[in-house]
Amino acid sequence: MTAFTRAIVRPPAANFAQGLTSVDLGMPDVALALEQHAQYCAALEQCGLALTRLPADARFADSTFVEDTAIITDRCAILTRPGAGSRAGEVAAIEPIVRTHFSRIHRIAAPGTLDGGDVCQVDAHFFIGISERTNAEGARQLAGFLAQAGFTSTTVDIRGVSGILHLKSGISYLGDKRLVVIDALADRPEFSDHAIVRIDAEENYAANFLRINESVIVSAGFPRFEACVRGFGYPLIALDMSEFRKMDGALSCLSLRF
Ligand code: GLY
Repeated sequence: MTAFTRAIVRPPAANFAQGLTSVDLGMPDVALALEQHAQYCAALEQCGLALTRLPADARFADSTFVEDTAIITDRCAILTRPGAGSRAGEVAAIEPIVRTHFSRIHRIAAPGTLDGGDVCQVDAHFFIGISERTNAEGARQLAGFLAQAGFTSTTVDIRGVSGILHLKSGISYLGDKRLVVIDALADRPEFSDHAIVRIDAEENYAANFLRINESVIVSAGFPRFEACVRGFGYPLIALDMSEFRKMDGALSCLSLRF
């Protein structure tokens, strides 16, 4: 399991509610989103991470979801090319800070598109989702950069799987060979080499969580998944993500961890 020491975060801007969303959960309360973001940052710090806190960026209503702008590994970083046109400028906004930490940087080029939310690292292997945001060309380019760095990868086509925007809306790596997967993806042959932990259908949103060093950060309100994580013996932190969920966001979306 990757050991993390740092994370990059950016709070939601005043126009957060004007961002993209595919869910019908109402308008987010920006003040509450800021409180939830502060709790999120505190949880990352509790897990031992030093944070780089970028300022809110109202040029891009979705810019708090920094994960989509870069893939960061312990061997290289890859700047993405987000699939939503309104988010394209977010990469230039994150690039300077990525460059302060990494010298080996690649970039997804047109016509490739790739959102970081579609990329799930499982030790030295990466699953890359083909989605509404990430196309086959973007996945191909990423797979090439990862291969140069000695990683393997597999694509997973999630188009047609309802209720998930990104691959990591439906799978996350718990560590210790355990891959947590929603029912709709659990029988995919791509995952057959892994120990699958199925998410209860009513708790699909819980499939996006963070394993940070020894701890697991989960979304609050999903008692069966919490019990499952505790049952495996991981220390757990549960965070209210209600306002980010309204904007198709979840725990992993809010940081770049390395
Ligand atoms: N609101 C997050 C996204 O659609 O990319």
